[in-house]
Amino acid sequence: MKVPVRVAPSILSADFGRLAAEVAEVEAAGAEYIHVDVMDGCFVPNITLGPGMVAAVRRATKAVVDVHLMIVEPERHVAAFAKAGADIIAVHVEAARHLQRTLAEIRDLGKRAGVVLNPATPEEAVRYVLDDVDLILAMTVNPGFGGQRFLRATLPKIRALRRMIEDSGRAIDLEVDGGLTVETVPAVVEAGADVLVAGNAVFGEADRAKAIEALRAAVLG
Ligand code: DX5
Ligand code: ZN
Repeated sequence: MKVPVRVAPSILSADFGRLAAEVAEVEAAGAEYIHVDVMDGCFVPNITLGPGMVAAVRRATKAVVDVHLMIVEPERHVAAFAKAGADIIAVHVEAARHLQRTLAEIRDLGKRAGVVLNPATPEEAVRYVLDDVDLILAMTVNPGFGGQRFLRATLPKIRALRRMIEDSGRAIDLEVDGGLTVETVPAVVEAGADVLVAGNAVFGEADRAKAIEALRAAVLG
């Protein structure tokens, strides 16, 4: 299946010392989303950033600010990320105890609600919240760090999620995150992904515009 893809550079691999310039650069290069990885040192081993950094990203761009919460008890923090200017707030099914309630709360805050699945979590975990989501994010690495190796075993799940979205008739983004490169993006897009998160593949390259172009060219095959 060939669908128009959107690219979501993950600022986790950017130079935080010049964050606004980094964000402006990828936006000018045509990135539709700016992916912001929030880690708490508890749900995942790493600690990254909070609402203050999301506000700084918001000031730096008109692109969609896509916040990926890798935190326990996300319901305690969604309002702060909404206030900081996130457009999409995505929570892990493994972390949200009352998932539907938290997703509904994100929408009540006027934001798009996203749900995230770890590599080992089956697609069935989102079946009964399809009414409440605007985006499903399938992790293609175990969350926590940039630059990890893509897990091919997630491909059948991406395909199953695409089928679930089509069957539902709803407009839901299917985003994938982790280990995406020019080598791995063709398979995820073929499986049905339409938003591609890329950290190292964009910010690890000196020419970010060229890197984004290379990802798009790889999926056009
Ligand atoms: C991983 C994060 C990713 C990460 C991707 O826990 O959710 O968004 O930044 O980085 P790459 O593209 O380098 O695998
Ligand atoms: Zn992420």
